[in-house]
Amino acid sequence: MRIGIPKETYAGEKRVATTPEVATKLIKLGYSVAIEQGAGAGADLSDEAYQAVGVEILPDAASLWASADIVLKVRGPAAEGPNEVALLREGGTLASFLWPAQNPALLEGLAARKGTVLAMDSVPRISRAQKADALSSMANIAGYRAIIEAAQNFGRFFTGQVTAAGKVPPAKVFIIGAGVAGLAAIGAANGLGAIVRATDTRPEVGDQIKSLGAEFVPVEYVEEGTGVGGYAKVMSEGYLRAQGEMIAKQCKEVDVVVTTALIPGKPAPRLITAEMVASMQPGSVIVDLAAEQGGNCELTVPGQVVERHGVRIVGYTDLPSRMARQSSQLYATNLLRLLEEMTPGKDGQLVVNMDDEMIRGATVIKDGAITWPPPPPTLSAAPKAAPKAAAAPVEPPKPKLSAATKSLLVLGIGGLALAWLGSVAPPAFMAHLMVFVLACFVGYMVIWNVTPALHTPLMSVTNAISSIIAIGAILQISAPGALMTLLGGAALILTTINMTGGFWVTQRMLRMFRRSE
Ligand code: NAI
Repeated sequence: MRIGIPKETYAGEKRVATTPEVATKLIKLGYSVAIEQGAGAGADLSDEAYQAVGVEILPDAASLWASADIVLKVRGPAAEGPNEVALLREGGTLASFLWPAQNPALLEGLAARKGTVLAMDSVPRISRAQKADALSSMANIAGYRAIIEAAQNFGRFFTGQVTAAGKVPPAKVFIIGAGVAGLAAIGAANGLGAIVRATDTRPEVGDQIKSLGAEFVPVEYVEEGTGVGGYAKVMSEGYLRAQGEMIAKQCKEVDVVVTTALIPGKPAPRLITAEMVASMQPGSVIVDLAAEQGGNCELTVPGQVVERHGVRIVGYTDLPSRMARQSSQLYATNLLRLLEEMTPGKDGQLVVNMDDEMIRGATVIKDGAITWPPPPPTLSAAPKAAPKAAAAPVEPPKPKLSAATKSLLVLGIGGLALAWLGSVAPPAFMAHLMVFVLACFVGYMVIWNVTPALHTPLMSVTNAISSIIAIGAILQISAPGALMTLLGGAALILTTINMTGGFWVTQRMLRMFRRSE
């Protein structure tokens, strides 16, 4: 079958649905690939680069759409101007972003072409489908770029500095919504040296926020925020009021706010009011990623940077397109992974297997029949609720032992067991046992108090310390016999590499966590 990649027609769209690197892999899958002349120009990919890997260049959109069995695009087909819906070959296949819930007319129009349509925004967020999850790839780029845009509009350093001209405090960044974009924004802001705080309605993301080096700011209101499929759910009025108070307090303290809060298929929740904007320090920045869905901030203007009450509000809706080369590469790879799943024979023949959850989710039209929406995903990232014990027969409460009685009991039983062991085991065993128990206790206490983010450097330093085995090698190296000397020498070299390597890696990792306040 033949894959065709037209030039994007949406004004300002710079991405392209495949790159020369990915085209090579599509050709290996058995497909022939053609692109419209200049399709990669916005992403700095020349026609010659495509030609070099065996991609055919076609002069215009009409010849491309007419010759392709499968069309790969970034944005959904335009229904006006160059009518791409009409250009789709009867019975042809199209894969692009589509947003079927928001575009029912487009869906009808495409169904009339009697083909098959895959919506890249409908790939389910299940582990198996992560490789084809284009929404996540784009959100990841958008989160990173949001911080770069914030830095561009913020008149100060992100990192704290001590200079001859005085001390500069680090910028404080607050991220609302720690989904894919939010987590990417935390990573980027942390990388630039800012102090980062983040909040989300789903409590289970707290650990992810902390492991990226940010502080989790919870809402002081008890309500489970996780809905079906691990996505957030609409929160109660009481919760939103408590959240509003928390956000208002943060706005007064921080320099940059990045908002990414969204529940799929719902308008963006209004979280930052005009009053909160006015309470921020002049020169502060808000980047509203949800601008296209109505904005998380009341004063956002989609697609523009506006200044209100001395605060710059960035409402760009094309953040991935502003990093077109990178986003094209990731998007093209997502499409490739989906096509790999749909080409089981690696023979360039597309098979739409509707029993496969990943393909079922993405297929919104199959042979002219609308198959959207798919059945909801069953997997949830939230911890399972404990089964309710309501049905169990109620037993009368047993008399409980006090904490002191329990400790005495444990100490008594432990003491008796040790006394018995002492009477039967050799004295050397007891000495070793004591050292072992103490080592376990000290090791447990040391590791337990280390924050999870520091576990990797802790492991590498422990690895370095374990090279104490070098002492054994030094003692054995002068033992009689060439074999012992050889083994001792080898052990010494290996432990030296282990020790210096361990300390070096630890130093490098700790440097990532260091920040001058
Ligand atoms: P996601 O679904 O992974 O994350 C959204 C997060 O917001 C979730 O963690 C959810 O729990 C949280 N959330 C929902 N309601 C909330 C509330 N009331 N308060 C606090 N947190 C709340 O979505 P993803 O992929 O990270 O995308 C985030 C946003 O970025 C979306 O609005 C998306 O459309 C937008 N986006 C914008 C782009 C642009 O160019 N401006 C490009 C790509 C994505």
